[in-house]
Formats: sequence, C-alpha cells, structure tokens
Amino acid sequence: TADNMDNLLKPQTANTNNMVIKKTYSLVFDAKKYTEETLTLNNKVIKYRAYRNMVYAAHPKNAQYESMNIFIPEAYFNNGTINDYKAKTAPIFMPNNVGGYMPGKAGEPSAHDRMSGTANAALVALSKGYVVAAPAIRGRTTIGSDGKTYVGKAPAFIVDYKAAVRYLRYNKKRLPAGDTEKIISDGTSAGGALSALLGATGNSKDFAPYLKEIGAANERDDIFASVDYCPITNLEHADMAYEWVFNGVNTYHQRMMPPMPNKLNADVKMNRPGNAPPDISTALLMTNKEIIVSGELKQLFPAYLNSLKLKDKNGKILTLDAAGNGSFKNYLESYYMASAQSALDKGEDLSKLDWLTIKNGKVTAMDLNKYAAYATRLKAAPAFDKLDLSSGENDEFGTINNIPRHFTVYSMKKTAADTAKMADKKEIKMLNPMNYIDAGKASVAPHWRIRHGAVDRDTSLAIPLILATKLMDNGYDVDFFSPWGKGHAGDYDLDKLFDWTDNICK
Ligand code: DHB
Repeated sequence: TADNMDNLLKPQTANTNNMVIKKTYSLVFDAKKYTEETLTLNNKVIKYRAYRNMVYAAHPKNAQYESMNIFIPEAYFNNGTINDYKAKTAPIFMPNNVGGYMPGKAGEPSAHDRMSGTANAALVALSKGYVVAAPAIRGRTTIGSDGKTYVGKAPAFIVDYKAAVRYLRYNKKRLPAGDTEKIISDGTSAGGALSALLGATGNSKDFAPYLKEIGAANERDDIFASVDYCPITNLEHADMAYEWVFNGVNTYHQRMMPPMPNKLNADVKMNRPGNAPPDISTALLMTNKEIIVSGELKQLFPAYLNSLKLKDKNGKILTLDAAGNGSFKNYLESYYMASAQSALDKGEDLSKLDWLTIKNGKVTAMDLNKYAAYATRLKAAPAFDKLDLSSGENDEFGTINNIPRHFTVYSMKKTAADTAKMADKKEIKMLNPMNYIDAGKASVAPHWRIRHGAVDRDTSLAIPLILATKLMDNGYDVDFFSPWGKGHAGDYDLDKLFDWTDNICK
C-alpha cells in the first residue's frame, strides 16, 4: 500500500558532521519485511517471498528510482531444492526495466507480460529456482528530491545498476538466499545497453565518484553474466554503423515527436518495448539533406571499424575498405545467413526473399543492400545524434537543466541548433561498454548472451556484433545470435535463456 511504501522510504536523519544534516537511508536488508505471494505458471503454483522498495543507495537522488524489489522462492525457507539449486547456490537474476533511456520501474514477476502475454522473465526465473533482484533505475526524465534538477542523465542509469549490485553484496549474509557471485543482468534495448555496461565495467574506477555521491555500498560491482537483447549501445558510433547498412534506403518509419497528423498517430505499431521510438507503417521520405548526411556517415564507418582490429573466430582480422566492403561485411552477413539457415532448417519457405541465395536447402550468399530494403529503415539519418537534438539519446546526454546535447563529433559539427553543446567526454566514454573490455580496464563478466533480431532496425546489427566480437577476442564466453523474424524485442526465448544460465551456473 502507499502507506507501507511511505514508511519504507522514510529516510533516517543522521548528523554526519557538525553542520550538515544529510538524509541517510540504511543499506541493511531487513529480512522481516516481506509478503508471501503466489503466481501460477503452466498450472504450477510458484510461491515466493517479496521484499519491495528497498533503497539501495544511502543518499539517493530519487529514492523511488534508487530502490529495488527482491523475490525469493519459498522453498529456500524450508531447506528446499529447486532445479538443483539451494538457498546458498541459487543464482541471482537481475532484470532491469529500462527502455528508451527512460526511468525503469522496479520489476515484478508477472504471468501476463505486456509483450508476450505469458510469464515474464522474473516469474520464469523464480520457477527455475533463481532469486530475482529487480531494481528501479533513474532515467533521462528523472527529477531529484529538489523537484527541479534532472538527476537521471548519463551516466546515472549505470551508476544505479552498480549500486544495486553493491547492495546485494553488502547484504550477502543477511539475504535469505542467493549467490552474489552468480549475478546475471538482463535488459532489452536501452536496458540491453545498460546490462552490457554492467557486464563490461565491473569495478571500474571511472564510476567511483558517482557511486560515492549516492552513498552506494563500498563493495565490488562486477557480475557473473550479462544478458543483452538488442542493445542500443556504442552510441557515438551507432549513426555511422546505421548508415553503413541502410544508406540507399531513403524512406523511414519512425514517427517523430508529436504533434503529428492523426493518421500517423493511429498508424503506430504496438509490438514494441515500452518507450522505444514509435514505429509507423507509413513510409516517410528522408529530406535531401538527410540523404547527404547518410552518405557522409556511411563513409566514416570503415575507419572506425578498422581501428578496432577485431578478429573472427579463426583469428582472421576483420576490416572494411573505403567503400564499406571487406571481411567485416562478410562476417556480418554470415550472422544474417545463419539466422536464415535456422529458419530454413525448421521448414520455412524463404524462396521469395530476394536478398538471400539458397541452393539445395543451404543459404549460400546474401545481398546486404537488398536486405536493408527488405528490413526497412526505422530512423532517418542521423539515427541517434539528431542534428536538432531531438532524440532520446540527445536527452540522455542532456544537462541537469534538461538541455539535450550532442555526443558525436559529426553531429556537433553539423548541428542545426544555435547553442548546441557536446556532452562531457568522460560521460560519453562511461556509456560505452567497448571502452572497458580490453585487459586491465575493468572486471568484465565472464559470460555473455547477446541477441539482435534479424529484422531489428532500431540499431545496426553491426553494433551488437562489434560488442560480441570484442568480447570473444578478449577470451570471454559469448553466445551471439540474430533470431530469425525477430524485430526490436527481448526476453522472447526464456526457456533457452535459462538453459543457458543453468549451463554456466551449474
Ligand atoms: C530504445 C530504442 C531505440 O530505437 C533507441 O534509439 C533507444 C532506446 C529502446 O527501446 O529502449
């Protein structure tokens, strides 16, 4: 109830020095504050204890969004076993609800997920014996306790996710169940980017001052595994990667900011994660200027890609020539082709797809330009760092006074906004997992599962593929796949997901 919530969130007042009275929340987990609950999954009753709204930072900027829910299978209170796990060995599944770089609410198990209509990841996790720790997270529209400062701009979301991990470790002995050395993050889209960041930046010193400022526990924040669905990440290179794939497609489907003609508002597709940019059926024409921008951005991609010195599984260097052709292109195509092959093997008829070459039941070649026309373009160029500062990402990199900023050199140079500013260099760096994977930079999660649907065009497949490849090149365990027919979505293969997590945990 609201009353309960008020009590839980009431700060204790502590005199931290002679002059300043700081509001301090206790980080001590209270094992007595739970409710016993049940949900039904496949006619099976799932019993668990729910501990809600636990503030995970001693000095939160926004206590409602820096708090989390923890759910523990009831069996663990009776010395029980689920899926071979016991109270002490149960992995901790840690999903976030971030989408669109907006604030995420603390998660709840549900038997009727908004997208799938069936059980969500939190409930399936409980049914398989996982402890679920589901934090709320600040986002780009979060306002602080002063009622006016924007406290959720970059890098707030990753600072919060880390603080939540530290809270779990701080309470390791007080938690009735859960192995804090088996923390598994999960997120979709901006939440997938967040999950990737948590996996890549473990214990990095860059985040220490921010964690200190919100009073995060003084604990490690590295995790065991990172599960990332369609991560909208590597933002400062995502525009060029997008045009490398979609240049030549001159229509797009993103409904820009309202007000829009009613026809276009009515045209919005509903099969999208919450807070993803609206996708409409109507094809809108890019302007001549946007078409020129597309060509210029496409030309920037090879130099970036080559600078990464990525290698394929056989150690062969992945490169692109000035025209955007080369071994990296073949490599990316091989993932679309493997996706198509998986559909063929299930008996799907792909003979009408002009971008695929199929011989004797085998996909033997593809045409990336034709693929782009088939998949269609969601976003006009630039896809992320909009010249008029109108994207969610511009807002994510905004100031505490809510002024959006650029985060790419290209868009800063070409800006259409008179007083445009660039975001802080350090904060751009801190939002990109690519900056932390090389040896010695951070405690990177040993296990990764990354997915990007074969018709997802919220970002280019190149972006998650580059991330996956850099992780593999550095020796991490990576399961990367582009599921056939999937667009911008997550948590759609929960049985396979938890088979994978069981496999790495047992
Ligand atoms: C999301 C989708 C986007 O296309 C984007 O640019 C940012 C976030 C999302 O669904 O979270």
